[in-house]
Amino acid sequence: MAKRKLVSTRTLKSGMKIDQAIVDSRGRELIARGCVLDDFQIEYLKEHGVGGIFIDTGEPEKELSELEKNLPVYTRELIAKSRVEDPSKVTLNQEVCKRVGEGIQFLFHNTESEGFLEATNNISEELVKAITGNNAVAIDINLIKVSDEYTFKHSVDVATMAMVIGQNYGLSKEELRELGISGLLHDLGKSQIPLEVLNKPGRLDDKEFELMKQHSLFGFKILKEKNQFNEAILKGVLQHHEKISGKGYPLGTPDAGIHKYAKIIAVADVYDALVTERP
Ligand SMILES: [Fe+2]
Repeated sequence: MAKRKLVSTRTLKSGMKIDQAIVDSRGRELIARGCVLDDFQIEYLKEHGVGGIFIDTGEPEKELSELEKNLPVYTRELIAKSRVEDPSKVTLNQEVCKRVGEGIQFLFHNTESEGFLEATNNISEELVKAITGNNAVAIDINLIKVSDEYTFKHSVDVATMAMVIGQNYGLSKEELRELGISGLLHDLGKSQIPLEVLNKPGRLDDKEFELMKQHSLFGFKILKEKNQFNEAILKGVLQHHEKISGKGYPLGTPDAGIHKYAKIIAVADVYDALVTERP
């Protein structure tokens, strides 16, 4: 098999060979896998808000990408479990992505709002429905990346990916809903980090990095004060940068103390960072 690469829609060129099928929300195939793209199709993808698609590079595929090879065995196993056999199954469900993206935006800007819990529940419900229902947004973890580049895309991607991993891991529907909430809000604490640190190009200095490392704690505190989220959801947020070795942050909690939601979110978070093409 030839190697596939996620290419941002903005940089697509006619003549590129598409390595995934594009289907609409009813499952009708719009562009077949293996098709050579023309300008008309590229325009269509742009108009429909598709952020990127997989392209067949023509290069021979390595067993695992170089990046994935560097992941711990535990992470690789989780990812492998979450892949499905037929990677052509993906739907163009930008409506769900858009609604969820806007919802996240609201949450980040309105941490004090009375509607916070309701909005979070609605978004998570929406994702659970999309993932467990017939109208699956993204069944293959590789294809979840086909979504728009909006500001809070990362939270949506991580929540979606975490739920797909969770579903393959045998979590109940209720657990998936909780995991979705935790995934959506895992970086909420970044709303407390000054923008000049958050958006600083290049490396953070030691002080800035120490501050940045507090975001999981900040997020945990915001949510805990609301008294509306259970312990598991809170731990997913607090511990998403903890490591099995105990060398993570903010507390250095080792394996046994890390909640399963936090472990799944961490896998989704790392994976998203590895496969996302930075603008
Ligand atoms: Fe984070």
